[in-house]
Amino acid sequence: MNRSTERPERGSSEANHSIPFARAAIDEREEAAVLRVLRSGWLTTASECKAFEREFSAAVGARHAIAVNSGTAGLHLALEAVGVSRGDRVVTTPYTFTASAEVIRYLDADPLFVDVREDDLNLDPDELAGALHDNPDVTAVIPVHIGGHSCRMDEIMQHCAGAGVRVVEDAAHAFPGTFAGQPLGTIGEVGVYSFYATKTLTTGEGGMIVTDDDALARRMTVMRLHGIDREVWDRYTSSRPNWEYQVVEAGYKYNMPDILAAIGRVQLEKSTRLTHRRREIAHTYLSGLLERDYLRLPIDSGESSWHLFIIRIDPDRLTIDRNEFIRRLAERGIGTSVHYIPLHVMPYYRDRYGLRAEDFPVSLRAYQTAISLPIYPGLHEESVRRVIREVIRIGDDALRR
Ligand SMILES: Cc1ncc(COP(=O)(O)O)c(C=O)c1O
Repeated sequence: MNRSTERPERGSSEANHSIPFARAAIDEREEAAVLRVLRSGWLTTASECKAFEREFSAAVGARHAIAVNSGTAGLHLALEAVGVSRGDRVVTTPYTFTASAEVIRYLDADPLFVDVREDDLNLDPDELAGALHDNPDVTAVIPVHIGGHSCRMDEIMQHCAGAGVRVVEDAAHAFPGTFAGQPLGTIGEVGVYSFYATKTLTTGEGGMIVTDDDALARRMTVMRLHGIDREVWDRYTSSRPNWEYQVVEAGYKYNMPDILAAIGRVQLEKSTRLTHRRREIAHTYLSGLLERDYLRLPIDSGESSWHLFIIRIDPDRLTIDRNEFIRRLAERGIGTSVHYIPLHVMPYYRDRYGLRAEDFPVSLRAYQTAISLPIYPGLHEESVRRVIREVIRIGDDALRR
């Protein structure tokens, strides 16, 4: 029996299947790659990781790619390298996962939240310009490409250059999306991808940092492994013994093991096909749901990685709220999620910074109305159609008359 989870689900009982919200596109090739590493006897960071970095940097056209054990670790290293330190402020949006903001706190700096645009749920460049003007203590900005849809990077880069502020792209959702043809993650000074289990390219847990800046790359490479001044795992190429090193900083333990890098290399090889399938699913959703004007659909720029497919319901047109909509989908076997409960209503950020729910109205409204539908390469066409049918059935039944 073929256990591939990348291939579409099949079977005549399709109509009764539960459709999970997410599922990794893993098959025998990733299994073989892991076995190869296990049998090599060298499990931690070495040649697989180096090869993955080389292949990834070529794929996105960056000078350096630095593999790490999570996107969060990558964001931490990136902020540290661009010089964020105690008392600084760093702009990001509340409409993101907590990792985007917690890394600012790791460095004893403070997040300055700026609301998102209504249309793409990404950092609003006009609001950013105002925030930079009013807050000269801002030293960096983290634009987050939500769901793989690009932020308005041209405007953001322009505002940041004008204010002398560093840009670290949170490209956790964004591989291999682009903005005006340029890979997301390569537009700011540093870009960070996540390879968490649900992401468009996964290693289970993991991440990749990219930059064209040699000094930043050097700093992040040293800090990735305990602040050691050389890459001690270059056992294949170095004539120096691997016990001979200097500790030049109190660094972190953020390296990616070869077992994960081997999975990543296979995923990277498959990524064109995996992205193609995500785009097909997105197009089916877009055309299938188009005529329901109580739904707000994501905008198709033609460049998204389609990590997420977030629809928003219009609660004024329906007799049920978002939670009830999700409950009814679950009743019909359809897994969904919500991206995101905004950070400014989370107890930590709310209480520490005295934030009120209404301070970021676009993020709050998006949270209250958003439903993320299943989108992943193994999702069968019939399942996509079933999701569309059920969304329409639930929505039409709940229409206010
Ligand atoms: C927007 C965003 N940024 C950063 C991260 C952190 O990535 P990781 O889980 O690999 O640490 C995530 C993870 O889900 C994310 O969604």
